[in-house]
Amino acid sequence: MRLRAGEGDDLNRAIATPKRPSYFARSRRITLRLLPTIAGAIAICFAATANAETIELRAGSMIEVESGRVIDDPVVTIVDGVITAVGSGSVASATPPDRLIDLGEMTILPGLIDMHVHLTSDSDVHGYRRLAVSDVRATITGVVNAEKTLMAGFTTVRNVGAPSFSDVALRDAIAEGDIKGPRMFVSGPPIGITGGHCSDNNLLPPQYEAVGDGVADGPWAARAKVRHNRKFGVDLIKTCSTGGVLSKGTKVGAPQYTVEELRALTEEAQSHGLKVASHAHGAEGIVNALKAGVDTIEHASFIDDEGIELARKNGAYLSMDVYVTEYILGEGEAAGILPESLEKERLVGQTQRDNFRKAHEAGVKMIFGTDAGVYPHGDNARQLSRMARFGMTPIEALRAATLNSADALGQSGKFGVIKVGAAADIIAVEGNPLNELSLLENVDFVMKDGVVYKDGSNDK
Ligand code: ARG
Repeated sequence: MRLRAGEGDDLNRAIATPKRPSYFARSRRITLRLLPTIAGAIAICFAATANAETIELRAGSMIEVESGRVIDDPVVTIVDGVITAVGSGSVASATPPDRLIDLGEMTILPGLIDMHVHLTSDSDVHGYRRLAVSDVRATITGVVNAEKTLMAGFTTVRNVGAPSFSDVALRDAIAEGDIKGPRMFVSGPPIGITGGHCSDNNLLPPQYEAVGDGVADGPWAARAKVRHNRKFGVDLIKTCSTGGVLSKGTKVGAPQYTVEELRALTEEAQSHGLKVASHAHGAEGIVNALKAGVDTIEHASFIDDEGIELARKNGAYLSMDVYVTEYILGEGEAAGILPESLEKERLVGQTQRDNFRKAHEAGVKMIFGTDAGVYPHGDNARQLSRMARFGMTPIEALRAATLNSADALGQSGKFGVIKVGAAADIIAVEGNPLNELSLLENVDFVMKDGVVYKDGSNDK
């Protein structure tokens, strides 16, 4: 709607004669001088709202993730990419929508969230093959993987580790509509000790003087790296408080960083409103990170009773990638994974699954993080059925990949729910995923922010 001549004047008067005189009296002169600008801004706002398309999305059923209920004949109204109404029933709406999307008998549910991906990595490039990949080339790999991930039904991801802020560029290119992909929360280069898991993979001998982007030793150096990453646009901080499987020469169970270093890093990050994700397999490094107050523990393979208790007390989330071991031990060798890493994976795999069950039973909060990039992007949803196999009910697994992950991002109510006020991130499949989580490995319909990216429907 454009304001016609005269209408703007009424609006201007309404603004100039407000109900709260004290504040406006003081700022009256400024208000008056700003009036034309304010009126202009309002006109633009109205124009944008008036042009906004109203979408009505109908389906056979809807999984309400909070309650776990399945609602028949859901009707979701979407304006400007945001959900404005959720109802059910087959009656026609009072005001016909601009566009009706009828998904027939399909089941809708919120777009999924993967809290541990590396979009700039490919699963067939491991070990020494990685040395041939420039950071610029990795960014282009990220463009391809972003689209694959979105088409697999993942409308939001947390990217925890990428070189040269390639993840920041990807995030922004997606947000600005240049390329297709999930909404991204990114860490930039992970921050860790010299020679650690968050270093440069330690593949090259000393004469190459390779140092990872995020290497920082000592509390102040760690703080400085946090500031550096924040300056260049990250949404969170990733660190490593133990060795890893895929880094050369690190002990998967051994701690990295002292509690003092981890505290400095975490305090610095949180003072800027950034959450901290700590890679940690070994029990001691898990406890160290939790003592420092990190928000999520990645992998958590050897978590012990102390770690479980601390995670519960702190309300920290665990992100346990219980599918990836199948890929590493199955296809890893052909993909270039080093023999020592395969050896380490044999130590981690089953224990991690057992501890997933134990921690979940103890009531520790879980998010859904897969480490896609180590295994093929687009296969993220394979982990859902594993989470059920290792102790969760199907709805608990779905909550991990929706509600809990949104909460761990500090975005509760905005993503991971089909609810008024949330972003219109909606996926659909034939059948009921609560009976068969593997149905989510092939989604038919993907909408993000009200835009349809994959359409197996009778879109009218
Ligand atoms: N990026 C992780 C690491 O190198 C992968 C661990 C995968 N193994 C597992 N069972 N979750 O340590």
